[in-house]
Amino acid sequence: MAKDPIRVLVTGAAGQIGYALVPMIARGAMLGPDQPVIIHMLDIVPAAEALKGVKMELIDAAFPLLKGVVATTDVVEACKGVDVAVMVGGFPRKEGMERKDVMSKNVSIYKAQASALEKHAAPDCKVLVVANPANTNALILKEFAPSFPEKNITCLTRLDHNRALGQISERLNVHVGDVKNVIIWGNHSSTQYPDINHATVDTGNGLKPVRELVGDDPWLNAEFITTVQQRGAAIIKARKLSSALSAASSACDHVHDWVLGTPKGTWVSMGVYSDGSYGIPPGIIYSFPVTCEKGEWSIVQGLKIDEFSREKMDATAKELPTTTSPASPVRGCYRPSVR
Ligand code: NAD
Ligand code: LMR
Repeated sequence: MAKDPIRVLVTGAAGQIGYALVPMIARGAMLGPDQPVIIHMLDIVPAAEALKGVKMELIDAAFPLLKGVVATTDVVEACKGVDVAVMVGGFPRKEGMERKDVMSKNVSIYKAQASALEKHAAPDCKVLVVANPANTNALILKEFAPSFPEKNITCLTRLDHNRALGQISERLNVHVGDVKNVIIWGNHSSTQYPDINHATVDTGNGLKPVRELVGDDPWLNAEFITTVQQRGAAIIKARKLSSALSAASSACDHVHDWVLGTPKGTWVSMGVYSDGSYGIPPGIIYSFPVTCEKGEWSIVQGLKIDEFSREKMDATAKELPTTTSPASPVRGCYRPSVR
């Protein structure tokens, strides 16, 4: 029997990530090859014509799984009944800017969209925030949608996770699909900590630790980390635009694994509400290693953390605002060090 369609909201759908993302969703890359979808696309009035064009192209592509398209500039109409919300709408970083520089432009957007989602989305709607600063925008969304379960609000660090897999695969000349269990700790910013201490490669002859295979600690402890941390800026420099196809693909991976589960023995990185695991302050949105089952993520517990990692995990946590900031929790988002 055919499944009921799932409604997926993409905000900023006329932008470059949106344009890459909606066909991926319509082809089943996000929710599976047998899962029909109805795509809700939101953008702002100046982008209404472009949004109309994206809708026309979705129709023209004749995707069998696509059961409907809503294209609107009305946030309430966009949020009605959605089961998954991918929050891409916002102002992208340009060359020379840090991700925090776009924050003031995005705060008011996130407040309004949080209330609309709270009132009109499906009660168990899963939210993925992509727009930068992603961790902080997710926290704002959480603060302004207080009845939303906090486990349902996440942000994208899967792109960083995939970048780390890609770097290891290039270095070792192995297939990226055979590299597993890297971790991105912390903020989607240049202080994030890409950690390979638990990562392995499937050699066809069993799993081997990445550290043993690479055998070059100076590269792993320095250049590998900065390359992943700075990859977004490197792409902006090369393309004069921020990453889009890899961001869209990673957003699909994030929701796919959250909804459909992570393979046994494998974890992924997601920005989630901290419960204090690994000594990370509760109440910040921080990227952890997680496994997913039956639509729920859980932080992987019991990993050994050495002194080098501890320092880096704490440094990236320090950048992030908590819900316990004085007076208005949102004021905490303006901490000058937030990226
Ligand atoms: P873009 O400028 O091409 O598109 C953004 C779209 O958002 C535009 O169409 C714009 O009209 C729309 N928009 C602006 N305000 C809106 C609002 N209030 N409601 C709905 N839509 C609105 O930008 P992009 O390259 O698609 O990037 C989008 C965001 O994603 C940026 O913040 C970027 O920095 C971020 N990003 C995050 C990651 C990540 O890994 N977390 C990766 C890449 C990009
Ligand atoms: C990325 O990591 O590519 C995005 O966050 C865009 C950016 O501003 O770096």
